[in-house]
Amino acid sequence: MPSAIPRPNIQFHDLHPTLADFRHEAVAGLRQRPRRIPPKFFYDERGSQLFDAITATAEYYPTRSEMEILETRAGEIAECIGTGSLLVEPGGGSCAKVRILLGGLEPVAYVPMDISRDHLHAAAQELAAEFPWLEVHAAHADFTQQMELPPGAPEGPRVAFFPGSSIGNFDPDAAVDFIAAVAELVGPGGFLLIGVDLRKDKAVLDAAYDDAAGATAAFNLNLLERMNRELEADFDLDAWAHRAGFNEPLGRVEMHLLSLRDQQVRVAGEVFDFSAGETIHTENSYKYRIEEFQDLARRAGMDSVGAWTDRKGMFSVHLLRNMAAGGA
Ligand code: TRP
Repeated sequence: MPSAIPRPNIQFHDLHPTLADFRHEAVAGLRQRPRRIPPKFFYDERGSQLFDAITATAEYYPTRSEMEILETRAGEIAECIGTGSLLVEPGGGSCAKVRILLGGLEPVAYVPMDISRDHLHAAAQELAAEFPWLEVHAAHADFTQQMELPPGAPEGPRVAFFPGSSIGNFDPDAAVDFIAAVAELVGPGGFLLIGVDLRKDKAVLDAAYDDAAGATAAFNLNLLERMNRELEADFDLDAWAHRAGFNEPLGRVEMHLLSLRDQQVRVAGEVFDFSAGETIHTENSYKYRIEEFQDLARRAGMDSVGAWTDRKGMFSVHLLRNMAAGGA
């Protein structure tokens, strides 16, 4: 990272998140049946690069579809929300998609919150340089633990932005809890603009999570390599495969790492026995119908103000509002 010249329109806030303990959580997950590793550990530096490669594959439509919606609907969205809001992005460490919204929304300030400190700092610096009129308050925080604004952020009607269908990576009940926490953060009359991937043909979903060039497989398998690098593990990468597919009854794409033979693996000093065909469950990605998601949001106390899809009807962006009494 080049040493950046501090910009007058940016402030950093360290909310001191408790950093996840990869060693402890990975070992605990591997002891469970079925075995699992929390998906937050995908995103080390290499993992973040590999995810960028996924978004560039022909099969992984969500990123492109969502960009299309935001680009074509930015004006309409800004009309619903109005200018002068305080725009908050939980997990907004790359400050990427928000660029599409800034011109129309003219927020009083933008508050990206992210657990990945260096990534957030670099991206926020760049954004502040690109939008000199924008006040940026970048907060090093874990929004799953602390859904709060950094001190000193200016007042304005609050709007949260949560793109990328990251909501699909929560189980439905946890998704309700997350949206309820956002509803509280934005307060009565506040908004949530959220990207949600749509339920669709199994073949399309299966391909999106298992591209032909193997970018997705590399991303999933990087979790094993990361354990080899950081946890003194000895996973033999030739003995594992990426497995992903749409589980229709549960409405979710499941990502697994599949053991191709009976094997013993050492991780952080502990020996684990895997049988052939056994998997480590690494992530779920829930897919929703428009109305299904609107119902879920209502359970969290937010009502639908708008819902847009791309031309092919692959992905949706919802504008939700906290309609609690006292709202504007
Ligand atoms: N949040 C992304 C999604 O659900 C993550 C993702 C894309 C992913 N492809 C993957 C996670 C493959 C694990 C394996 O779409």
